[in-house]
Amino acid sequence: PTVPVRFTVNGKARALDLDPRVTLLDALREHLNLTGSKKGCDHGQCGACTVMVEGKRINSCLTLAVMHDGDAITTIEGLGRPGDLHPMQAAFVKHDGFQCGYCTPGQIMSSIAVLQEIKDGVPSYVTADVAGSATLTGEELRERMSGNICRCAAYSNIIAAIADVAG
Ligand code: FES
Repeated sequence: PTVPVRFTVNGKARALDLDPRVTLLDALREHLNLTGSKKGCDHGQCGACTVMVEGKRINSCLTLAVMHDGDAITTIEGLGRPGDLHPMQAAFVKHDGFQCGYCTPGQIMSSIAVLQEIKDGVPSYVTADVAGSATLTGEELRERMSGNICRCAAYSNIIAAIADVAG
């Protein structure tokens, strides 16, 4: 049996009837044809599936779509488009923050979330270690981005892109 699920995706109200076992990632990709969010590992280890739910990042492969009834979801498709990129997308282009591009949607969603988490004072392991330091370090950014794996190892350029947007 299916269950009705209603959520807002990239500002648009969407209604689906889903098997309750369908993950949020599969609902986005297979049912809404939003294939920007990628399935790398399908078990919470790579971050390629990262989306924003109610403004917070989440591995969409690890959560069921039915758990998000009523939620506002943002995927990479909800950011900029060619010619009108989100500042983080533009920074990834400027700093070559990708090679094959497969992890990039997740990297960008996480990067935006990381800057928001820093603004909101969400501690990281690194900031806990260097309590009192107001300076944003590469080490802190790397730790906060550690859930997003890049097999091409574009890490240093990704961190440079985030640092650029952070100012
Ligand atoms: Fe979700 Fe890898 S596909 S973390």
